[in-house]
Amino acid sequence: MSESHQVRQYVVTGAASGIGLATRELLEQQGHRVVGVDLRGSDVDADLSTETGRHVLAPAVADATGGVIDGVIAVAGVSLPSALTVQVNYFGAVATLERLHPLLAASAAPRAVVVASFSALQANDADLVALLRDGDEAAAIAHATDLVDRGHGDLIYASTKRAIAEWVRAISITPPWAGAGIPVNAVGPGVIRTPMTEELLRTPEGAAGLMAAVPMPLHGPADTSTIANTLTWLSSPVNTHITGQVLFVDGGADASIRGPRIFD
Ligand code: NAI
Repeated sequence: MSESHQVRQYVVTGAASGIGLATRELLEQQGHRVVGVDLRGSDVDADLSTETGRHVLAPAVADATGGVIDGVIAVAGVSLPSALTVQVNYFGAVATLERLHPLLAASAAPRAVVVASFSALQANDADLVALLRDGDEAAAIAHATDLVDRGHGDLIYASTKRAIAEWVRAISITPPWAGAGIPVNAVGPGVIRTPMTEELLRTPEGAAGLMAAVPMPLHGPADTSTIANTLTWLSSPVNTHITGQVLFVDGGADASIRGPRIFD
């Protein structure tokens, strides 16, 4: 480590598995301090789908860090066709950034990143996205439960990822974020080899189905280190001006699906 290397304190949610664990490990290899948050098996046990867990988060992190954090990386998520996905992927991620904001604002070079998904571009339920945008958790849960009952539970995950990506973009230019000098971005992974995808990737049929939905002409499914590197860079002091972006790290899935003309 060079003498000019600044040791930073990071909070990583979902740090017990997959992308979150890889991010934790990379930051620690770089000499930084990480407070991991997960259901269990990390530094802070907190169920981010519940108000109880969200309430625990900021005081526990403040205790562990002395009240200053330099980076928040919200990775925790589930891909179930159920209302829980709404609670974790959207409201859990929003709570993570909002409740840790005071600790972040105390840093000299604060940064925040949320893991969304390539799924932000896939078919979703517009009414659920609108309820998420409104921040109405009870109504969003009720609507998601109704979607499941009507056989459309598969739209919930993409809806949460669309909404969280748009939330990041919306807050990025506001006084508490841009005004306080805090870049905040979303990352949209394609298919990454983690416990979330391992069952589908195990069989040729499952992998082919995934690649049909998420075409990745460049290198195919990625390892967790690819996303960890992106998250680490975006949340480092080197990133001074990228904010409000959804950076797809997807082997070309976005370009394959949306095509070249995204500016008109
Ligand atoms: P994973 O299942 O390996 O890790 C997710 C972690 O989040 C787990 O440790 C889990 O315990 C934690 N978590 C779940 N619910 C929680 C809660 N209520 N409170 C606190 N922690 C909770 O999955 P993976 O693949 O590492 O996913 C991480 C993020 O990346 C998720 O947001 C996922 O939607 C997103 N993503 C994953 C992709 C993939 O292909 N694996 C693709 C695109 C996005």
